[in-house]
Amino acid sequence: MELRSLLQLAYFGATTILFKRKRPLVGSIILTDKCNLACKHCAVSNITSIIYPYPQIRAEMQWLYAEGVRILFFYGGEPFLWRNQGHTLQDLVIEAKQIGFLLVNVVTNGTIQVDLPEADLVMVSLDGGKEKHNDIRGDTYDRIIANIEKASRGNVCLYMAINQINKGDIRAVCETALRTKNVKAVSFNFHTPYPGTEQLKLSRTEKQACANQIEELIDADYPILNLKSALPYIVNNTFPTPCYQCIVVENGEKWVCGRCIDIEGLCAECGFFFAAEFSLLFKGNMKVLLDLFRTYLKYI
Ligand SMILES: C[S@@+](CC[C@H](N)C(=O)[O-])C[C@H]1O[C@@H](n2cnc3c(N)ncnc32)[C@H](O)[C@@H]1O
Ligand code: SF4
Ligand code: SF4
Repeated sequence: MELRSLLQLAYFGATTILFKRKRPLVGSIILTDKCNLACKHCAVSNITSIIYPYPQIRAEMQWLYAEGVRILFFYGGEPFLWRNQGHTLQDLVIEAKQIGFLLVNVVTNGTIQVDLPEADLVMVSLDGGKEKHNDIRGDTYDRIIANIEKASRGNVCLYMAINQINKGDIRAVCETALRTKNVKAVSFNFHTPYPGTEQLKLSRTEKQACANQIEELIDADYPILNLKSALPYIVNNTFPTPCYQCIVVENGEKWVCGRCIDIEGLCAECGFFFAAEFSLLFKGNMKVLLDLFRTYLKYI
């Protein structure tokens, strides 16, 4: 990250904390819910399979920026399936930068392509070593690794959702990050038990064991883009929800924190690390703030 962007983000963050502002700083745009995979843990793909039109996405970017959002994520479904009126995902990333977003990131399953040099981070979902990943995501592991290695820039962060199937593969994903070209870091989530996926959720004891392992790996200097200081709150689901500084837009609708806010009782079982990390940060948790600076400066 450029120093100028970091200072601007620090200013936005500091004023949010000081003035207890609930304005959003982190925004996600769902480009489509269409997806080429049917992962076992996912409940949000191919519900409508609509590719949202470019003028609508552009209006959403402009609206988010005007609201104060400076960190933008493009999400799906599978965002690399999005193209409309001659525009591609790459064009959207370039346009987002031109609008003035300081960090522009994409979350992808990595099966179509990964190369997006204009993005700050390309978050590529990798749910374990080859066996567990393929169990969850179909036979895609080799293709994803090949796509990552042939990308033109080292801006990839592996993204693992830890659940009953792959809970033993945390270290394996960290090792993959170390040996795979173009990978900067790994970021984790725990499974969030959307209706129909409850069988994959982890008990508190299992989450604690995973958190202990993540902590050990952070201490051993593995490239992990999560905050050690937030782990106890994540394990015990004691972080404040929802995170008012995060916002999601899809097809003209807006949600604070995540679309999952509409599912009764789900926030109390939330496994999304970002929700915990940002909500603790913006509540003014100093340990999390220092941790964030240390970690983000290293990997973004
Ligand atoms: C919904 S996907 C959309 C982007 C892209 N299709 C992908 O798989 O990366 C975004 C992320 O959410 C994660 N995810 C899906 N269902 C989840 C759940 N129930 N709990 C936690 N993470 C989940 C996926 O593993 C993925 O990393
Ligand atoms: S690739 Fe992403 S959107 Fe598609 S089914 Fe898997 S987790 Fe869901
Ligand atoms: S489950 Fe609740 S706290 Fe977690 S991401 Fe969704 S809305 Fe936010």
